[in-house]
Amino acid sequence: MTQTDALIQQGQATLRNNDRGGYTVPTAGLYPFQWNWDAGITALGWATFDEPRAWQELELLFKGQWDNGMVPHIVFHAPSDDYFPGPKEWGVTHEPPTSAISQPPLLATMARLLYEQAQDKQAARTRAAALLPRLAAYHRYFYRDRDPQQTGLVATYHPWESGMDNSPAWDTALSRVPPAQRSYRRRDLQHVDSDQRPLKSEYDRFIYLVDLFKQLQFDSDAIYQKSPYKVQDVSLNSVLLRANNDLLALCKELDYQDDLADLQRAGERAKSAISELWSDAHNCFLSRDLVSNELIPIRTTGGLMPLYAGATTQEQASRIAGKLSAWLDEAPFGLASTHPSESVFDAKRYWRGPTWLHINWMIANGLQLYGLNDIATRIKQASRDIIEQRGYWEYYNPCDGQGCGGPDFSWTAAIALYWLL
Ligand code: DGY
Repeated sequence: MTQTDALIQQGQATLRNNDRGGYTVPTAGLYPFQWNWDAGITALGWATFDEPRAWQELELLFKGQWDNGMVPHIVFHAPSDDYFPGPKEWGVTHEPPTSAISQPPLLATMARLLYEQAQDKQAARTRAAALLPRLAAYHRYFYRDRDPQQTGLVATYHPWESGMDNSPAWDTALSRVPPAQRSYRRRDLQHVDSDQRPLKSEYDRFIYLVDLFKQLQFDSDAIYQKSPYKVQDVSLNSVLLRANNDLLALCKELDYQDDLADLQRAGERAKSAISELWSDAHNCFLSRDLVSNELIPIRTTGGLMPLYAGATTQEQASRIAGKLSAWLDEAPFGLASTHPSESVFDAKRYWRGPTWLHINWMIANGLQLYGLNDIATRIKQASRDIIEQRGYWEYYNPCDGQGCGGPDFSWTAAIALYWLL
């Protein structure tokens, strides 16, 4: 058997072992439920060998969608004591129970990719069409509830919404959040070494925000007014813009008969607002702290995500590409999530340094949109080298390739199947 065949077999087995009957847990133990952006990426992996199962991944996630259109970041399909905070902590009345925040909304992009690459076009047409109104409602939720002043950029209220939970980009914004005053027991440290996970001081604040949203009865206006943490995350906004463009394209392809002019306008506003987040000094885009109204001056892979949205100029894309070689030279095992020469870089600690394969894919994909194929190929090759050497971990130390976080990880296996194999 070739190494590629072995990796394909192992990737498929990873998804099958993490399958809980129509939805996929990210990894056994550490994350025992269905996560939003994990589900989207994981669907791409399923699509390489089981198309009906790929659609089902998205369909089951949408069982958690709220009446206001929000698709929560966790859907608690079945109980488990392995994770904190569970459904009781969030306090949401929904069946199935869910968390009360969202995550980078990449689902429409995944639906478009599934549709375009489907072997069974007829089935794909039916299943994609059924998702369109739900996807449109999800985007409308973001553009309406998370950008009440119509700035073009939606706000995140919790670092978990960025998907890049403990990125140093959130440090200052999070430091204004008071620590939770109640005691609680983390479960993540039962599964993973503490030097690969967020700090207690961060968890105390993560939990304060969970409690606050419950106290405010999940009311969007009240949260917008009162949340001490409010960030326009350039990465989430880029993911949303790309997904919105993909949704509009898919609606056209499938003759969807709804008036989408509002989403069209929201996308145009977003593109122009993202362009204002460019920093000449950093050679990347920056998120905005909405409480201080300042840009956050730290280079992270989040600041490269406008490439994936097609929201940079050709000149900005070339400038980013010109700096990426140095970024990779310093930490060659994939793109470090925080630039290795930032003082806060931490090679093993979750989003403070490690490389994540789905982010490598998004950035390589974005670079290709601008014809920057050499650097895209270098990122792809680095990603392939890691899985050959280490298998499918949640994330990897970008300096030596060591696998970190949870093992046998669904989205890593999925993006490998889809992109690398
Ligand atoms: C976690 O628990 O680490 C997740 O990233 C939050 O959703």
